[in-house]
Amino acid sequence: MKILVTGASGTIGKRLIEIIKARNHEGVAFLRSDVDILDEKSMHAYLDQINPDSIMHLAKSDELMTTHLLTWSKKHQKKFVFTSSYKVFSGKTVEAPYQVYDRPDGTDEFALGKIKQEDLCFEIYPDSYVVRLAWQIGKAPGGYNMLSFVQEQLKQRGVMSASKGLYLSLMFLDDTCHALIDLVESYLPGMYHLNQNDGYSFYDVIHYLKHEYQQDWIVLDDAKKFSKNDNMENNKVKVTMFSEMGMTHFE
Ligand SMILES: NC(=O)c1ccc[n+]([C@@H]2O[C@H](COP(=O)([O-])OP(=O)(O)OC[C@H]3O[C@@H](n4cnc5c(N)ncnc54)[C@H](OP(=O)(O)O)[C@@H]3O)[C@@H](O)[C@H]2O)c1
Repeated sequence: MKILVTGASGTIGKRLIEIIKARNHEGVAFLRSDVDILDEKSMHAYLDQINPDSIMHLAKSDELMTTHLLTWSKKHQKKFVFTSSYKVFSGKTVEAPYQVYDRPDGTDEFALGKIKQEDLCFEIYPDSYVVRLAWQIGKAPGGYNMLSFVQEQLKQRGVMSASKGLYLSLMFLDDTCHALIDLVESYLPGMYHLNQNDGYSFYDVIHYLKHEYQQDWIVLDDAKKFSKNDNMENNKVKVTMFSEMGMTHFE
């Protein structure tokens, strides 16, 4: 399968291209320098030239770029994947764990932008895949990945605050990339949640990573400041859950 990836130089996109290739597909990076992303003709001509079987739209784009990708995908009946985020939920009116059928209740600019584009996908091309991703855990700090946050905390405070009362949607970056490929290989279009956290606090996860990555982090519970269940229910796509990896609850 020829898979075109937008946002290919980003945190997830870069690794996704590598994993697409490792799985014997053709991974092509969308190059913004080669096309006017706001112009439909330019975008359609660019896509005609590449002619991918599937588009994975990871770029931090506006609605216009997304619209052009959608209209081309619909016209040619190609697979189209839009990556959204767990952040479309705020937890204010929708109770966690968030389900795919829950209407997102996020009100900040990022959430509203993502919700609008999610809706756009199904309006323009009902056979889209809309995938809400969890916060990514990479192998090392870099880009928008949980380990960058850990590194920053340690730099600023010398300790890592991780609440025993905080439940977040989290997933290892490589597993996310594999799941995105699994989706277009084997699953039907629709709304998906990709999340490996089946009930572990941020404190548990940080302890697990400390051990797995052999780090000497000092980890403190911050439950008084941060207590919230912000976890999505993983649905349909088979992923290895944290419990299956041997994660434990720390006292
Ligand atoms: N990282 C996470 O933990 C996480 C969690 C939940 C959801 N997500 C979602 O997953 C997707 C990828 O996330 P990411 O962390 O890999 O993002 P990222 O590191 O911020 O990369 C986004 C990429 O978008 C492209 N881009 C930037 N500005 C643009 C613009 N104005 N117009 C068009 N393209 C632009 C750039 O790629 P090029 O220069 O190659 O075009 C950039 O590298 C996003 O939809 C994000 O919301 C990520």
